[in-house]
Amino acid sequence: MAEKLLEIKNLKQHFNVGKPNQVKAVDGISFDIYKGETLGLVGESGCGKSTTGRTIIRLYDATDGEVLFEGENVHGKKSRSDLKKFNRKMQMIFQDPYASLNPRMTVGDIIAEGIDIHGLSKTRKDRMEKVHELLKTVGLNKEHANRYPHEFSGGQRQRIGIARALAVEPEFIIADEPISALDVSIQAQVVNLMKKLQRDKQLTYLFIAHDLSMVKYISDRIGVMYFGKLVELAPSEELYKNPIHPYTQSLLSAIPLPDPESERTRKRTAYNPSIHNYAEGENLEMREISPGHFVYCSEKEFKQYQSIYKK
Ligand SMILES: Nc1ncnc2c1ncn2[C@@H]1O[C@H](COP(=O)(O)OP(=O)(O)OP(=O)(O)O)[C@@H](O)[C@H]1O
Ligand SMILES: [Mg+2]
Repeated sequence: MAEKLLEIKNLKQHFNVGKPNQVKAVDGISFDIYKGETLGLVGESGCGKSTTGRTIIRLYDATDGEVLFEGENVHGKKSRSDLKKFNRKMQMIFQDPYASLNPRMTVGDIIAEGIDIHGLSKTRKDRMEKVHELLKTVGLNKEHANRYPHEFSGGQRQRIGIARALAVEPEFIIADEPISALDVSIQAQVVNLMKKLQRDKQLTYLFIAHDLSMVKYISDRIGVMYFGKLVELAPSEELYKNPIHPYTQSLLSAIPLPDPESERTRKRTAYNPSIHNYAEGENLEMREISPGHFVYCSEKEFKQYQSIYKK
Protein backbone atom coordinates (compact mmCIF):
# COMPACT_ATOMS: atom_id res chain seq x y z
CA MET A 1 0.00 0.00 0.00
CA ALA A 2 1.31 3.42 -0.91
CA GLU A 3 2.26 5.84 1.83
CA LYS A 4 -0.08 8.68 2.73
CA LEU A 5 1.36 12.10 1.95
CA LEU A 6 -1.68 14.10 3.03
CA GLU A 7 -4.62 13.31 5.26
CA ILE A 8 -7.55 15.67 5.04
CA LYS A 9 -9.89 15.18 7.96
CA ASN A 10 -13.35 16.67 8.20
CA LEU A 11 -12.14 19.88 6.54
CA LYS A 12 -14.52 22.83 6.61
CA GLN A 13 -14.29 26.26 5.08
CA HIS A 14 -17.24 28.50 5.81
CA PHE A 15 -17.17 32.10 4.59
CA ASN A 16 -19.07 34.82 6.38
CA VAL A 17 -20.61 36.94 3.68
CA GLY A 18 -22.52 39.48 5.79
CA LYS A 19 -24.53 38.33 8.77
CA PRO A 20 -26.33 35.99 8.98
CA ASN A 21 -25.24 34.59 5.64
CA GLN A 22 -22.64 31.92 5.55
CA VAL A 23 -21.34 30.09 2.52
CA LYS A 24 -20.37 26.55 3.41
CA ALA A 25 -17.89 26.31 0.54
CA VAL A 26 -16.29 23.19 1.98
CA ASP A 27 -18.43 21.34 4.47
CA GLY A 28 -16.68 18.47 6.18
CA ILE A 29 -14.68 16.49 3.66
CA SER A 30 -12.17 13.75 4.40
CA PHE A 31 -9.76 11.99 2.08
CA ASP A 32 -6.13 10.92 1.84
CA ILE A 33 -3.63 11.64 -0.89
CA TYR A 34 -0.97 8.99 -1.45
CA LYS A 35 2.66 9.65 -2.31
CA GLY A 36 3.21 9.82 -6.05
CA GLU A 37 -0.42 9.70 -7.08
CA THR A 38 -2.67 12.16 -8.87
CA LEU A 39 -5.97 12.71 -7.18
CA GLY A 40 -8.48 14.39 -9.46
CA LEU A 41 -11.13 16.62 -7.89
CA VAL A 42 -14.16 17.42 -10.01
CA GLY A 43 -17.55 19.08 -9.67
CA GLU A 44 -19.52 21.94 -11.11
CA SER A 45 -18.65 25.60 -10.68
CA GLY A 46 -19.01 26.78 -7.09
CA CYS A 47 -18.95 23.33 -5.46
CA GLY A 48 -15.82 24.21 -3.47
CA LYS A 49 -12.90 22.69 -5.41
CA SER A 50 -10.66 25.77 -5.36
CA THR A 51 -11.54 26.50 -1.75
CA THR A 52 -10.53 22.94 -0.85
CA GLY A 53 -7.17 23.39 -2.60
CA ARG A 54 -6.58 26.83 -1.13
CA THR A 55 -7.43 25.67 2.37
CA ILE A 56 -5.15 22.65 2.12
CA ILE A 57 -2.26 24.85 1.04
CA ARG A 58 -3.17 27.33 3.79
CA LEU A 59 -4.10 30.31 1.66
CA TYR A 60 -7.09 30.26 4.01
CA ASP A 61 -7.32 29.21 7.65
CA ALA A 62 -9.65 26.25 7.92
CA THR A 63 -12.94 26.81 9.74
CA ASP A 64 -12.62 23.30 11.13
CA GLY A 65 -10.86 20.02 10.49
CA GLU A 66 -7.28 19.02 9.94
CA VAL A 67 -4.75 18.74 7.16
CA LEU A 68 -1.82 16.46 7.92
CA PHE A 69 1.25 16.49 5.71
CA GLU A 70 3.45 13.47 6.39
CA GLY A 71 1.56 13.14 9.65
CA GLU A 72 2.14 16.76 10.72
CA ASN A 73 -0.71 19.22 11.14
CA VAL A 74 -0.35 22.01 8.56
CA HIS A 75 -2.84 24.33 10.22
CA GLY A 76 -2.89 25.63 13.77
CA LYS A 77 -0.09 27.44 15.57
CA LYS A 78 3.13 27.29 13.63
CA SER A 79 6.48 28.98 13.87
CA ARG A 80 7.69 31.05 10.91
CA SER A 81 10.24 28.44 9.98
CA ASP A 82 7.63 25.66 10.05
CA LEU A 83 5.37 27.70 7.79
CA LYS A 84 8.21 28.27 5.39
CA LYS A 85 8.94 24.56 5.35
CA PHE A 86 5.34 23.73 4.38
CA ASN A 87 5.24 26.52 1.82
CA ARG A 88 8.17 24.94 0.10
CA LYS A 89 6.73 21.43 0.10
CA MET A 90 3.35 22.46 -1.30
CA GLN A 91 2.94 24.56 -4.42
CA MET A 92 0.01 25.66 -6.52
CA ILE A 93 -0.54 26.08 -10.26
CA PHE A 94 -3.47 28.23 -11.32
CA GLN A 95 -6.05 28.23 -14.07
CA ASP A 96 -5.17 31.58 -15.53
CA PRO A 97 -1.42 31.64 -15.89
CA TYR A 98 -1.48 35.24 -17.04
CA ALA A 99 -3.28 36.61 -14.00
CA SER A 100 -0.93 34.70 -11.73
CA LEU A 101 2.29 35.98 -13.35
CA ASN A 102 3.43 39.50 -12.48
CA PRO A 103 3.48 41.34 -15.84
CA ARG A 104 6.29 43.68 -14.74
CA MET A 105 8.71 40.93 -13.83
CA THR A 106 10.87 39.02 -16.25
CA VAL A 107 10.14 35.33 -16.58
CA GLY A 108 13.53 34.60 -15.00
CA ASP A 109 12.69 36.64 -11.90
CA ILE A 110 9.22 35.11 -11.69
CA ILE A 111 10.67 31.62 -11.72
CA ALA A 112 13.41 32.56 -9.26
CA GLU A 113 11.02 34.06 -6.70
CA GLY A 114 10.80 30.89 -4.65
CA ILE A 115 14.54 30.29 -4.99
CA ASP A 116 15.12 33.75 -3.49
CA ILE A 117 12.54 33.41 -0.71
CA HIS A 118 13.93 30.07 0.40
CA GLY A 119 17.57 31.00 -0.17
CA LEU A 120 18.14 28.08 -2.51
CA SER A 121 21.01 29.57 -4.48
CA LYS A 122 24.21 31.06 -3.14
CA THR A 123 25.35 33.07 -6.15
CA ARG A 124 23.81 35.02 -9.05
CA LYS A 125 25.32 32.53 -11.43
CA ASP A 126 23.86 29.56 -9.60
CA ARG A 127 20.45 31.28 -9.54
CA MET A 128 20.60 31.89 -13.28
CA GLU A 129 21.65 28.33 -13.99
CA LYS A 130 18.75 27.03 -11.92
CA VAL A 131 16.32 29.23 -13.88
CA HIS A 132 17.74 28.03 -17.21
CA GLU A 133 17.48 24.42 -16.10
CA LEU A 134 13.86 24.92 -15.03
CA LEU A 135 12.99 26.54 -18.35
CA LYS A 136 14.47 23.54 -20.12
CA THR A 137 12.57 21.14 -17.86
CA VAL A 138 9.23 22.66 -18.91
CA GLY A 139 10.09 22.75 -22.61
CA LEU A 140 11.14 26.40 -22.92
CA ASN A 141 14.68 27.72 -23.41
CA LYS A 142 17.06 29.99 -21.56
CA GLU A 143 16.54 32.98 -23.87
CA HIS A 144 13.01 33.14 -22.48
CA ALA A 145 14.32 34.20 -19.05
CA ASN A 146 14.71 37.85 -20.06
CA ARG A 147 11.27 38.23 -21.58
CA TYR A 148 7.96 39.25 -20.01
CA PRO A 149 4.79 37.15 -19.57
CA HIS A 150 2.81 38.98 -22.29
CA GLU A 151 5.27 37.74 -24.90
CA PHE A 152 4.11 34.15 -24.42
CA SER A 153 1.15 32.05 -25.52
CA GLY A 154 -1.29 30.58 -22.99
CA GLY A 155 0.38 27.17 -23.05
CA GLN A 156 3.83 28.70 -22.62
CA ARG A 157 2.61 30.80 -19.70
CA GLN A 158 1.30 27.70 -18.02
CA ARG A 159 4.76 26.16 -18.50
CA ILE A 160 6.22 29.22 -16.77
CA GLY A 161 3.74 28.72 -13.92
CA ILE A 162 4.86 25.11 -13.64
CA ALA A 163 8.55 26.10 -13.66
CA ARG A 164 7.88 28.61 -10.89
CA ALA A 165 6.21 25.90 -8.80
CA LEU A 166 9.05 23.45 -9.43
CA ALA A 167 11.73 25.98 -8.47
CA VAL A 168 11.43 25.17 -4.76
CA GLU A 169 11.50 21.40 -5.37
CA PRO A 170 8.06 20.71 -3.89
CA GLU A 171 6.66 17.29 -3.09
CA PHE A 172 3.02 18.17 -3.62
CA ILE A 173 1.40 20.38 -6.26
CA ILE A 174 -2.19 21.55 -6.37
CA ALA A 175 -3.13 22.27 -9.96
CA ASP A 176 -6.35 24.29 -10.02
CA GLU A 177 -7.84 23.80 -13.49
CA PRO A 178 -4.39 24.22 -15.07
CA ILE A 179 -5.61 23.47 -18.59
CA SER A 180 -9.16 24.87 -18.62
CA ALA A 181 -8.11 28.17 -20.17
CA LEU A 182 -5.99 26.54 -22.90
CA ASP A 183 -6.83 25.48 -26.45
CA VAL A 184 -7.78 21.83 -26.65
CA SER A 185 -4.70 21.11 -28.79
CA ILE A 186 -2.45 22.54 -26.07
CA GLN A 187 -4.23 20.87 -23.15
CA ALA A 188 -2.79 17.43 -23.85
CA GLN A 189 0.75 18.85 -24.10
CA VAL A 190 0.52 20.44 -20.68
CA VAL A 191 -1.03 17.30 -19.17
CA ASN A 192 1.75 15.18 -20.71
CA LEU A 193 4.37 17.55 -19.33
CA MET A 194 2.82 17.28 -15.87
CA LYS A 195 2.80 13.49 -16.11
CA LYS A 196 6.44 13.40 -17.16
CA LEU A 197 7.46 15.71 -14.33
CA GLN A 198 5.54 13.56 -11.90
CA ARG A 199 7.50 10.48 -12.95
CA ASP A 200 10.86 12.25 -13.00
CA LYS A 201 10.43 14.05 -9.69
CA GLN A 202 8.08 11.73 -7.77
CA LEU A 203 5.51 14.48 -7.42
CA THR A 204 2.07 14.11 -5.91
CA TYR A 205 -0.77 16.06 -7.50
CA LEU A 206 -4.20 17.27 -6.57
CA PHE A 207 -5.63 18.01 -10.00
CA ILE A 208 -8.78 20.14 -10.02
CA ALA A 209 -11.11 20.13 -13.02
CA HIS A 210 -14.77 21.00 -13.53
CA ASP A 211 -15.66 18.06 -15.75
CA LEU A 212 -14.70 14.45 -16.10
CA SER A 213 -13.25 14.42 -19.61
CA MET A 214 -9.58 15.34 -19.13
CA VAL A 215 -9.03 14.25 -15.50
CA LYS A 216 -9.39 10.65 -16.58
CA TYR A 217 -6.05 10.77 -18.38
CA ILE A 218 -4.08 12.15 -15.50
CA SER A 219 -5.76 10.88 -12.33
CA ASP A 220 -5.18 7.64 -10.47
CA ARG A 221 -8.22 8.30 -8.32
CA ILE A 222 -11.02 10.83 -8.62
CA GLY A 223 -13.11 12.60 -6.02
CA VAL A 224 -16.43 14.16 -6.97
CA MET A 225 -17.65 17.22 -5.08
CA TYR A 226 -21.15 18.59 -4.83
CA PHE A 227 -22.02 21.67 -2.76
CA GLY A 228 -19.09 21.48 -0.38
CA LYS A 229 -19.29 17.72 0.12
CA LEU A 230 -17.34 14.86 -1.35
CA VAL A 231 -20.02 12.55 -2.79
CA GLU A 232 -17.88 9.85 -4.38
CA LEU A 233 -14.23 8.78 -4.40
CA ALA A 234 -12.82 5.90 -6.43
CA PRO A 235 -9.95 4.73 -8.60
CA SER A 236 -10.42 6.47 -11.99
CA GLU A 237 -11.36 3.45 -14.08
CA GLU A 238 -13.71 2.21 -11.43
CA LEU A 239 -15.45 5.59 -11.27
CA TYR A 240 -16.07 5.60 -15.02
CA LYS A 241 -17.16 1.98 -15.05
CA ASN A 242 -19.28 1.99 -11.93
CA PRO A 243 -20.46 5.48 -11.01
CA ILE A 244 -22.76 5.08 -8.02
CA HIS A 245 -23.82 8.50 -6.82
CA PRO A 246 -26.51 10.02 -9.08
CA TYR A 247 -24.50 13.24 -9.26
CA THR A 248 -21.46 11.38 -10.60
CA GLN A 249 -23.69 9.66 -13.15
CA SER A 250 -24.99 13.03 -14.26
CA LEU A 251 -21.44 14.42 -14.64
CA LEU A 252 -20.42 11.41 -16.72
CA SER A 253 -23.43 11.77 -18.96
CA ALA A 254 -22.26 15.30 -19.77
CA ILE A 255 -19.02 14.18 -21.43
CA PRO A 256 -19.27 14.46 -25.23
CA LEU A 257 -18.53 11.17 -27.04
CA PRO A 258 -15.96 11.04 -29.85
CA ASP A 259 -18.15 8.87 -32.09
CA PRO A 260 -20.71 11.12 -33.85
CA GLU A 261 -23.43 8.45 -33.87
CA SER A 262 -23.19 7.75 -30.15
CA GLU A 263 -22.87 11.49 -29.53
CA ARG A 264 -26.13 12.12 -31.40
CA THR A 265 -28.01 9.66 -29.22
CA ARG A 266 -26.20 10.48 -25.98
CA LYS A 267 -28.65 11.15 -23.16
CA ARG A 268 -27.74 13.64 -20.47
CA THR A 269 -29.14 12.87 -17.08
CA ALA A 270 -29.81 15.77 -14.75
CA TYR A 271 -29.17 15.42 -11.03
CA ASN A 272 -32.05 16.16 -8.75
CA PRO A 273 -30.89 16.17 -5.09
CA SER A 274 -34.45 15.65 -3.84
CA ILE A 275 -34.41 12.01 -5.05
CA HIS A 276 -32.47 11.08 -1.92
CA ASN A 277 -35.42 11.96 0.24
CA TYR A 278 -33.32 11.79 3.41
CA ALA A 279 -35.11 11.68 6.71
CA GLU A 280 -34.28 14.23 9.42
CA GLY A 281 -31.13 13.16 11.27
CA GLU A 282 -30.34 10.30 8.88
CA ASN A 283 -26.70 9.27 9.12
CA LEU A 284 -24.97 10.26 5.88
CA GLU A 285 -21.37 9.27 5.39
CA MET A 286 -18.82 7.92 2.93
CA ARG A 287 -19.40 4.16 2.70
CA GLU A 288 -17.11 1.74 0.90
CA ILE A 289 -18.91 -0.18 -1.83
CA SER A 290 -15.81 -1.92 -3.21
CA PRO A 291 -12.17 -1.63 -2.17
CA GLY A 292 -11.23 2.06 -2.38
CA HIS A 293 -14.58 3.08 -3.84
CA PHE A 294 -16.54 5.31 -1.47
CA VAL A 295 -19.95 6.86 -1.90
CA TYR A 296 -21.68 9.42 0.29
CA CYS A 297 -25.05 7.98 1.26
CA SER A 298 -27.43 6.78 3.93
CA GLU A 299 -27.50 3.22 5.24
CA LYS A 300 -30.66 2.55 3.24
CA GLU A 301 -29.19 3.89 -0.01
CA PHE A 302 -26.04 1.89 0.57
CA LYS A 303 -28.07 -1.33 0.60
CA GLN A 304 -29.73 -0.32 -2.68
CA TYR A 305 -26.41 0.61 -4.24
CA GLN A 306 -24.93 -2.74 -3.17
CA SER A 307 -27.79 -4.66 -4.75
CA ILE A 308 -27.25 -3.04 -8.15
CA TYR A 309 -23.44 -2.80 -8.01
CA LYS A 310 -21.79 -4.38 -11.06
CA LYS A 311 -18.66 -6.30 -10.15
N1 LIG B 1 -13.22 34.32 -0.46
C1 LIG B 1 -14.52 33.98 -0.51
N2 LIG B 1 -15.46 34.65 0.19
C2 LIG B 1 -16.75 34.30 0.16
N3 LIG B 1 -17.24 33.27 -0.58
C3 LIG B 1 -16.35 32.56 -1.31
C4 LIG B 1 -14.95 32.88 -1.33
N4 LIG B 1 -14.33 32.01 -2.16
C5 LIG B 1 -15.28 31.19 -2.63
N5 LIG B 1 -16.51 31.53 -2.14
C6 LIG B 1 -17.76 30.82 -2.40
O1 LIG B 1 -17.58 29.47 -2.04
C7 LIG B 1 -18.20 28.59 -2.96
C8 LIG B 1 -17.17 27.65 -3.55
O2 LIG B 1 -16.29 28.39 -4.39
P1 LIG B 1 -15.03 27.75 -5.13
O3 LIG B 1 -14.32 28.85 -5.82
O4 LIG B 1 -14.26 26.94 -4.17
O5 LIG B 1 -15.73 26.79 -6.17
P2 LIG B 1 -15.09 25.99 -7.39
O6 LIG B 1 -15.61 24.60 -7.27
O7 LIG B 1 -13.63 26.17 -7.42
O8 LIG B 1 -15.77 26.67 -8.66
P3 LIG B 1 -15.18 26.95 -10.15
O9 LIG B 1 -15.32 25.67 -10.91
O10 LIG B 1 -16.06 28.02 -10.68
O11 LIG B 1 -13.75 27.39 -10.01
C9 LIG B 1 -18.90 29.47 -3.96
O12 LIG B 1 -20.23 29.64 -3.57
C10 LIG B 1 -18.14 30.77 -3.87
O13 LIG B 1 -18.95 31.85 -4.22
MG1 LIG C 1 -12.31 27.00 -8.83
